[in-house]
Amino acid sequence: MKIQLEIEKIVPPGDGLGYFNNKAVFVPCTTVGDVVEAIIVKEKKKHILASLKEVVSPGKDRIQAPCPHYRECGGCSMMHLTYTNQVKLKLKLLTEVFTNHGLDITPDFIHSPRTEHYRHRTTVKLKNGIIGFSARQSHHVVPIDECLILSKGIKNQLIGLKNLGRNNCEFSLLESSDNGEIAVCVTEKNRLVPLPGHSERVAENYGFGSIVLRSDGFAQANPFITSAICRALEKKVSADDNICELYCGAGTFSLPLAIKAATLEGFDLSKRSIRSAIENAKQNNLANTRFNVTNLEKGFKLPQCNTVMVDPPRKGLGSVPLKRIGTSRASKLLYVSCNPASLARDAKSLMETYRFNLLSVTGYDMYCHSHHTEALAVFSR
Ligand SMILES: C[S@@+](CC[C@H](N)C(=O)[O-])C[C@H]1O[C@@H](n2cnc3c(N)ncnc32)[C@H](O)[C@@H]1O
Repeated sequence: MKIQLEIEKIVPPGDGLGYFNNKAVFVPCTTVGDVVEAIIVKEKKKHILASLKEVVSPGKDRIQAPCPHYRECGGCSMMHLTYTNQVKLKLKLLTEVFTNHGLDITPDFIHSPRTEHYRHRTTVKLKNGIIGFSARQSHHVVPIDECLILSKGIKNQLIGLKNLGRNNCEFSLLESSDNGEIAVCVTEKNRLVPLPGHSERVAENYGFGSIVLRSDGFAQANPFITSAICRALEKKVSADDNICELYCGAGTFSLPLAIKAATLEGFDLSKRSIRSAIENAKQNNLANTRFNVTNLEKGFKLPQCNTVMVDPPRKGLGSVPLKRIGTSRASKLLYVSCNPASLARDAKSLMETYRFNLLSVTGYDMYCHSHHTEALAVFSR
């Protein structure tokens, strides 16, 4: 069903909010003052989720999105705003997410040093001979003949991957911002495996030494803002710190921390990532580190430490790690998050149940042109 409404406000995580028959309607890719025609995607008791059909009359901040696939592609949901307005909005949404949990904060926000072709890590789909990204709110694949956010090196790989003779699969690509190396993996029977004829790992450098990252493991999407987070983390630790790092992956943040700290012990579920973390520490002569394969959602023992660093997946800290950190003797917590909603929820528990104080929150624009925001929160007690 098609409805018409005016967008009154943008609410976390970045959708426009308007009303139809006194019911709240959420419409992605809109801005305040837009009058839009929208299609109802899901109607719930108290609200409606809708998709944008047409902008009948644009709000004052709306611009012509520079990408021809913007409306269809599921990737960039904020390209209808200038970069300056995207950042202003993300800062406002980050603040609001904390306010909604009763936490009064004034975050900083760090712009991405590069806003185009910044994406050095991606997964693309190949379906019915089309290579591209998933469409918004659908499983349809949108061809990537043009993409303003993908690194040029990755973009140049796509035609070759499309013509390999494979179909109905996904490719995971990673390009080093240090030397342009590219690694590619492919899904086979729902598992990521190296793609024959391609490298499966690259050497990356975020400013604290060279590290190996694998295309079948986790890697941050935007290396330029990742370097800024590494620099911020390095400044937060000293030679007195014994750090436990939960969700450490291949050690992207372990390096800047371990270079300054007395010791660092890292934990992650992925065997491959822990193997890389060990190799990365060795290559950088960091004899003060240890890394363990551990499922942090199940029981685990947090070693004695005065500082904890975490970078969990979107859902945030599980109840087990939250309790282990809360009941430990750690007095400093560095929390990197790709989801402000779970960060704010965890912050409330850490403060109310475990006496942590929230010292600062800084947003980092890891995902320019999309509504996603990375953030670093610093706690002490
Ligand atoms: C956002 S990534 C961060 C990785 C690392 N900080 C980096 O920048 O490369 C989240 C990490 O959590 C790990 N992970 C997810 N669930 C986990 C669990 N239950 N126990 C331990 N690690 C987990 C993933 O393997 C992944 O490496």
